[in-house]
Amino acid sequence: MNILVTGGAGFIGSHTLIELYKAGHTAVVVDNLSNSNPVALKRVAEIIGVPEIPFYKVDIRDREGLERVFAATEGAGGTPAYPKFDACIHFAGLKAVGESVEKPWEYYENNIGGTLTLVDVMRKHGCKNIIFSSSATIYGDPAEIPITENCPKGQCTNPYGWTKSMLEQVLMDIQKADPEWNVVLLRYFNPVGAHRSGRIGENPNGIPNNLMPYITQVAVGKRKELGVFGNDYNTPDGTGVRDYIHVVDLANAHVCALQAIGRRCGMGIYNIGTGHGYSVLDMVKAFVRVNGVDVPYSIKPRRAGDIATCYCDPAKAAAELGWKAQYGIDDMVRDSWNWQKNNPEGYPEVS
Ligand code: NAD
Ligand code: UFG
Repeated sequence: MNILVTGGAGFIGSHTLIELYKAGHTAVVVDNLSNSNPVALKRVAEIIGVPEIPFYKVDIRDREGLERVFAATEGAGGTPAYPKFDACIHFAGLKAVGESVEKPWEYYENNIGGTLTLVDVMRKHGCKNIIFSSSATIYGDPAEIPITENCPKGQCTNPYGWTKSMLEQVLMDIQKADPEWNVVLLRYFNPVGAHRSGRIGENPNGIPNNLMPYITQVAVGKRKELGVFGNDYNTPDGTGVRDYIHVVDLANAHVCALQAIGRRCGMGIYNIGTGHGYSVLDMVKAFVRVNGVDVPYSIKPRRAGDIATCYCDPAKAAAELGWKAQYGIDDMVRDSWNWQKNNPEGYPEVS
């Protein structure tokens, strides 16, 4: 299949491109580079062994820009530059939880406005297959652990989470109204790790919000110590428990979801996690043990909006998509560190 990958220069998108090509697909990337660097796409091409990944620096809110991308697959009287899109994997979006509280309008406008424009242009061009990056955050404080897809959606604690929850509803309604659509919502748990080569990885701007990039930046000497947000939760060691998933496993879930789309799955909703919960201190200890580097930490107050425990039951994805996580905690901490130590400043800036 030829896949339109929005947000393909980002963390999860760049890893997914590799797995797509490995599975025999091709891709065209649309990204406005608001949170990514085109060097990632160069490195993806090197890893895959192709001259380049087709790329348009286009914002998904820009209708004319998207029209240009689709026009390149249609040729308009000449030879098309690329085959028609069989599906879109839609990663593009703003994702910083704290920033979304400060800038709710920007988050709703970018994530919801952008997706509405994208979906409209897609259907005008007869492409009615989409895989959407949703998040465990839509469960709020989950009503059950492990979380199945039947768990009711909850109260999100921030506008970012609401954009995911609302967009799930938008896409479900569109699929219901027009069953020609195949819509797969993948609810990611906590993606970490990096490609084994250490050439691509997570490259957050400024101070990392998430645990793993904070750990790697402490390990590489960029930050003094990790603050562990609370050790008085009702969990085995008192620190927050999450379902960390290797980004390459997550990337492969998209390849499996494309197969489901090929089978005309209609509407599909899947938790994408390992089904194992690890605490903050489990992650720190595994990182130190596997990589032999020190990660100083101190206990800080709880972070507003955090929940104690969040891990999933991934059985539905196994049964219906044939997808199962292959990598464990040791692989995750090894590959996160391999990326950070080889790229202490992240990707080089392009002039
Ligand atoms: P990322 O920021 O690395 O990638 C997102 C990409 O989208 C970036 O390259 C950014 O430049 C691009 N983008 C943003 N707005 C755009 C717009 N209007 N037009 C075009 N491009 C735009 O983030 P990621 O971690 O790779 O996440 C990918 C998707 O998965 C996001 O939708 C995110 O919300 C979702 N998700 C991520 C996590 C996580 O913890 N990383 C968890 C659950 C869900
Ligand atoms: N944590 C720390 N110190 C830090 C950062 C995090 O102790 O410096 C703790 C948190 O308190 C939490 C755990 O590490 O217990 C994981 O925190 P993250 O910020 O890495 O991840 P969250 O589970 O809070 O949220 C992430 C994404 C959300 C997404 C959610 C579920 O940031 O966008 O996973 O997919 F919605």
